[in-house]
Amino acid sequence: MKRRKTDPVGSPPPKRNGGGLRYNKNALEINVDQYKHLDFLRVTEAAALASSKWVGKGQRDEADQAACEAMRQELNSMEMDATIVIGEGERDEAPMLYIGEKLGQPGGPEIQIAVDPLEGTNLCANGTPNAISVLAAAVVGQGKLMHAPDCYMEKLVVGPECAGIVDITVPPRINVRLMAKALGKDVDECIIGILDRPRHESLIRELREAGCRVHLVPDGDLSVAIAALDPDSGVDGLMGIGGAPEGVITAAAVLCTGGEMQARLKFTSDEQRERAEKMVSGDVDRVFRTEDLASGNVTFAATGITPGDLLKGVRFRHGSAHTESIVMRSSTGMIRRIETTFKLGRRESD
Ligand code: FBP
Repeated sequence: MKRRKTDPVGSPPPKRNGGGLRYNKNALEINVDQYKHLDFLRVTEAAALASSKWVGKGQRDEADQAACEAMRQELNSMEMDATIVIGEGERDEAPMLYIGEKLGQPGGPEIQIAVDPLEGTNLCANGTPNAISVLAAAVVGQGKLMHAPDCYMEKLVVGPECAGIVDITVPPRINVRLMAKALGKDVDECIIGILDRPRHESLIRELREAGCRVHLVPDGDLSVAIAALDPDSGVDGLMGIGGAPEGVITAAAVLCTGGEMQARLKFTSDEQRERAEKMVSGDVDRVFRTEDLASGNVTFAATGITPGDLLKGVRFRHGSAHTESIVMRSSTGMIRRIETTFKLGRRESD
């Protein structure tokens, strides 16, 4: 996610005919979240493919713009009345996928969308692990995503086995002990993902002193948080402070998997706090739980750009590109991991 000051929005793409699942108004009650989830997969795949061309090239803005343009084009081709609730920034600072932007072709349901076309712009630019393209969506009236202010958020994310036993208000060493017990292992067999930032010095020290292992990442706490929801990922939880918008998208995945997220907004200025007070109902200093951030029927989709804790990155082989994605729905608890092969067509040099 990256704020940009310039760049034309471009004209909307033509409506796609034939592709994707069709919306059936008569089946609204049962099918409304079913019909879109594979289309949303196509959206993150397109953004991942577009930004993958920029992996390791040191050009973060270009990578972000490529992801953003591809995501916008795909979203705009879907039959829906969509509003971006978490995007690239406010209208005056983001040329596209800005908060409040309307997308989609007439004929579909009202949908809230939270996007991060390129989560981990530095990771992509440097060719380092964990860059992903990600979105969460909720049909209005059936699900909800919090309109998070663009501030920091302290996060505690755990998978289903540790849901209901952790508490963000107690010291991290206690949470890790509770987690170890629930996971049936010793504290020194647990791994907690944390963003490598000076602000986390004491958190890292405390966990290490408790015997816990720490997985430090240079960026991309969203990827690591989602990995923590998967018992096979090798990461047992996420702790520490990252972006609040990324936190809401994380919560959508947590809701789908039955894990648990607890969070507290963190402000770096009075202005941020005042803005949050206008956007968020209730006490902005309270502990937000998963369902305060994402609730009801939501869909989550993510595609890997660089290889990471959660997903493989985009790989190119003999005129084709290969992606790995994850798609989840909270209504059914369905989790799909999908490998897709794209034929890229022959090149002039072939
Ligand atoms: P970008 O994709 O915008 O670069 O964000 C990457 C990220 O590491 C997030 O995963 C994380 O939540 C946030 O930035 C942390 O912010 P900061 O770099 O200011 O600590």
